[in-house]
Amino acid sequence: MRIDIISVVPHLLESPFSHSILKRAIEKGLVEVVVHNLREYGLGKHRITDDYQFGGGAGMVMMIEPIDRCISKLKSERNYDEIIYMTPDGERFNQKMANQLSLKGNLIMLCGHYKGVDERVREHFITKEISIGDYVLSGGELAAAVVSDAIIRLLPGVLSDETSALTDSFQDNFLAPPVYTRPEDYNGWQVPEILLSGDHKKIDNWRFEQSLERTKIRRPDLLNHE
Ligand code: ADE
Repeated sequence: MRIDIISVVPHLLESPFSHSILKRAIEKGLVEVVVHNLREYGLGKHRITDDYQFGGGAGMVMMIEPIDRCISKLKSERNYDEIIYMTPDGERFNQKMANQLSLKGNLIMLCGHYKGVDERVREHFITKEISIGDYVLSGGELAAAVVSDAIIRLLPGVLSDETSALTDSFQDNFLAPPVYTRPEDYNGWQVPEILLSGDHKKIDNWRFEQSLERTKIRRPDLLNHE
C-alpha cells in the first residue's frame, strides 16, 4: 500500500510515522507513506496556496490550482483507489471504514486548513471525505495520521500474533475485555482469579462476557448495528 498525504504543514506529519509500529511497517516495506508540501505547488514567487473567499467573510480558502497540480502529478505516476479529503463534514470514520481502506492499493489524503478547500476541489478531484469526529481540528493532518494509523496496523505482517488486530475493540462491534499483567496482587488489588486458572475455554468465555457487559454499559449503540 502507498499513502500520499498533501499538506501545507508537512512537518506535523513527521512524528507519527517515525516511531513504533508505523515506523516498522514502513521499514519492512509493507506501506509507503509520502508527505507532499503543497507549498511546492503554490502560485507565484511566494508559492501561495490560499486566498480570500468570494462573497467576503473571515478566513482563507485553499485554492484549486496548487491542489490540482499536486494531485495531477501524483495521478500521472500511478492509479489511486481513493482521493480522500479530511474534513469535519465528511463521513464519520470507524473501524469498518478502516478495514475497507486497508484493502486498497494507493490512497491520497488531502489535509484541509483555514476555511477549507475551494468547493470545486471536492466536486472534481475528491472521491471520499472523512471526518474523525464531531469536533474541529486546526487542520486535517492529525486526522490523516489517525486514519493512516488505523489502516496501516491492519495490513498483513504489520502486527505480530500477540498484538493481532482481530481482538481489538470494535473489530466485531464489541469493546475489548479488560486486561491485566504482573503483579497478581498490587496493594491488595487482585487480578481476576479465572485469568490465572490456565483453563483457556473458561478464560475465553469470561473475556466474551466482559466484552459484552462493557459494550452494553458503555456503548449500547454498537449492539444495535449489523
Ligand atoms: N479537519 C478538521 N477537523 C477535522 C475532523 N474532525 N476530521 C477530519 N478532518 C478534520
